[in-house]
Amino acid sequence: MSFDLARVRAEFPLLAREVNGQPLAYLDSAASAQKPQAVIEAESQFYRNGYAAVHRGIHTLSAEATTEMENVRVQAAAFLNAASAEEIVFVKGTTEAINLVANSWGSSQLQPGDNIIITEMEHHANIVPWQMVAQRTGAEVRFIPLTPQGELDIAQLPLLMDSRTRLLAVTQVSNVLGTENPVKELVAQAKAAGVVTLIDGAQAVMHHSVDVQDLDCDFYVFSGHKIYGPTGIGILYGRKALLDQMPPWEGGGAMIATVSLTNGTTYAAAPWRFEAGSPNTAAIIGLGAALKWIGELGLDVICQRERELMRYALDKLALVPDIIIYGPSQRSGVVAFNLGKHHAFDVGSFLDQYGIAIRTGHHCAMPLMHYYQVPAMCRASFVLYNTEEEVDRLVAGLTRIHRLLG
Ligand SMILES: Cc1ncc(COP(=O)(O)O)c(C=O)c1O
Repeated sequence: MSFDLARVRAEFPLLAREVNGQPLAYLDSAASAQKPQAVIEAESQFYRNGYAAVHRGIHTLSAEATTEMENVRVQAAAFLNAASAEEIVFVKGTTEAINLVANSWGSSQLQPGDNIIITEMEHHANIVPWQMVAQRTGAEVRFIPLTPQGELDIAQLPLLMDSRTRLLAVTQVSNVLGTENPVKELVAQAKAAGVVTLIDGAQAVMHHSVDVQDLDCDFYVFSGHKIYGPTGIGILYGRKALLDQMPPWEGGGAMIATVSLTNGTTYAAAPWRFEAGSPNTAAIIGLGAALKWIGELGLDVICQRERELMRYALDKLALVPDIIIYGPSQRSGVVAFNLGKHHAFDVGSFLDQYGIAIRTGHHCAMPLMHYYQVPAMCRASFVLYNTEEEVDRLVAGLTRIHRLLG
């Protein structure tokens, strides 16, 4: 199937609006993507026609809503090629997924003297939960360092791993540099040493297809809102054998088998054991619509189109005077840069006046900012609905800033 850019853009109502009197150029999808009509409609249809509490009622609406929600679990399993829907836990997003693993698996498995390996390019969501559980359990957090090209120095992994390494947690694609990490190779090395593995797929799942069985990872996590779905919903994939052993981390309704004031509580099986309380059902249904929508478009077709656009963007941005581009030439989704001595916030505010939305700041990756010795970076994201014309507008805007401010 070929990629029809005009048709794809027409499916995103928000892309038609103006900002500061200019057509919007939305280059901040890595922070959060816009939503196609199919997702907006699925959520609103649920509230209009199918809304009820799930997993509790015997009445028709509740049963229908429960079926719809559980169908999305099956869909998410197929999306990741998980072996079964019981390996899919609904969470709020990537952050909650990692906190779940850190609090449940980490708190129950880590001993003083154990170590966890992450990388220098992680989002804070894949750093802080490990630091917190390490502090509680007496474990240590180690990290795979970066090379000056913005790639992982993977030769360091065997040197960092030892008999006390329990977990490797690594991002598949850097949210700042766009680096595509060799996660399959890293997982294989870790697995050979008996180390549990977690892949942060927050910046990967929207760009290319993922097969958790092929990756052979133990945990894989992503957020709905970055893959054109709603906010407040995400997926934790966990290998069944591990989920079955893990204790619950939040208590409440929906995660129990029996509750007694005198004899304590027994818990539901995984994955429901990890889903305490009323779920965000509308968002789950919206996520199902997003996965269906992206599946119909085809991740292979999307990937090819995004690679073309990225090539174009990198070539054009390189022509901007005094631009510093961070990261490798082969990348997914994002280009981080700074413009001469100007602070990223100034550059971002200036571009906003031209209707161009980019991300500015530390990108929840302070260790990476520290590596490059900068307080902040600008970041433009390029996804399936972005155009060459938007790249040209970004380049023209940056060139104008340089001309006006030096
Ligand atoms: C690589 C990566 N990991 C984790 C997160 C956290 O995702 P969320 O805020 O949706 O939980 C992000 C969000 O930007 C990210 O880019």
